[in-house]
Amino acid sequence: MAAPSFAGAALAAPSPSSAGADDEAYWREVARAYDVKTDIINLENGYWGVMARPVAERYLENVKRVNHDNSFYARRSWGDDYRSAIAQLAAALGAREDEIAITRGATEALKGLIAGYNKLEAGQAVMVADLDYPEMIAMMEWRAAKSGCEIVKISIPEPSTHDGLIAFYKKALIDNPSVKLLLLTHISNRTGLAIPVKEIVAMARAKGVDCIVDAAHSWGQMDFIADDIGADFVGYNLHKWIGAPIGAGMIYIRKGRLDDISPDPGAPDYDQGRVAGRIHTGTVDFAAVLTLPDALKFHNEVGPAAKAARFSYLRDLWVKETRGLPGLQILTPDDPRLHAAITSIRMEGKTTPEDNIALSKRLFEEFNIFTVHRVGVAAGACVRVTPSLYNSPDDVMALVKALRVICG
Ligand SMILES: Cc1ncc(COP(=O)(O)O)c(C=O)c1O
Repeated sequence: MAAPSFAGAALAAPSPSSAGADDEAYWREVARAYDVKTDIINLENGYWGVMARPVAERYLENVKRVNHDNSFYARRSWGDDYRSAIAQLAAALGAREDEIAITRGATEALKGLIAGYNKLEAGQAVMVADLDYPEMIAMMEWRAAKSGCEIVKISIPEPSTHDGLIAFYKKALIDNPSVKLLLLTHISNRTGLAIPVKEIVAMARAKGVDCIVDAAHSWGQMDFIADDIGADFVGYNLHKWIGAPIGAGMIYIRKGRLDDISPDPGAPDYDQGRVAGRIHTGTVDFAAVLTLPDALKFHNEVGPAAKAARFSYLRDLWVKETRGLPGLQILTPDDPRLHAAITSIRMEGKTTPEDNIALSKRLFEEFNIFTVHRVGVAAGACVRVTPSLYNSPDDVMALVKALRVICG
């Protein structure tokens, strides 16, 4: 297909991509839209997602504009710009405008949801898993203690299957009938496991259990809209896989459920009846919010489905070549429903953080491949591998070569 025209500075508008995941001419053009370090092979794109050049340029313009116009901007134009960003986010997510608010990241969104959830009664319980994000587990511990509830901690089976995960969560809820609030992480930051969140949310709802979904890593890495998750309470990041400036996320509360999340104690009166009142941020990075429509535009031009397919393609390229190497454990299942870009590895028996710091260090020092170790997985620490849109098949094949050497 024709190469897209956004590799230059302007936010030009190629038609939404229908490129195949292996259309290298197309993906090279996409990669050219990113100004990134080229002296390393960076396979650690899970921290945040760098902005494409057109988005970064617009962000810098917005920083200058806001700094130049000062409160004249904030007091006269900000309200309309905020509402416009909300409208575009809601359209992209398939949500109502009054179901979302912009946050400074998934943390702020999820903290607002967990801290504000007001339906628990003393003697009930909440549930978290080993693959949940540590700060959200800590928030759930706080929530439980504050409400006089117990916290039930489960460890997700490794390896996992689609049906096995649904059955696992079902059994966990049957075994723990006092659980009334469940934290679900759509894509684990530790192993990249994508759980069948819609099915689990529906199953939990049928048992009277509410779910708070941590979608920090999923929107933009996978292609879905709000109803594909089906959850009433969700925290999103926009600065990971949507490619927005750092400091952008989103809180979602389904229409009709707002009263089940208490307002932030610091929220002003005018926000009490709105989702924005569940996370009172105070003064925000206006320029970051102003740039959200540009990030969304770029994301939509490449195409959410094409992006998701490319991520899986790059991931499958290296996994197909390395699964089965002696001593190598690939923790993330190959079922396309259960992963996107992220996949984690460890060497058999090497389960400590130090083991995996050493593996990541070796990949870097001997092979120039940058990754990160992750801890907290019940079965042991691991090394996370996360390609992004600017990575090429050569980048992931370099990892294959490295792992062949390491596995002997
Ligand atoms: C699963 C998950 N939840 C929540 C967060 C927090 O996101 P942020 O730090 O961008 O607010 C992260 C960040 O990596 C994450 O991976």
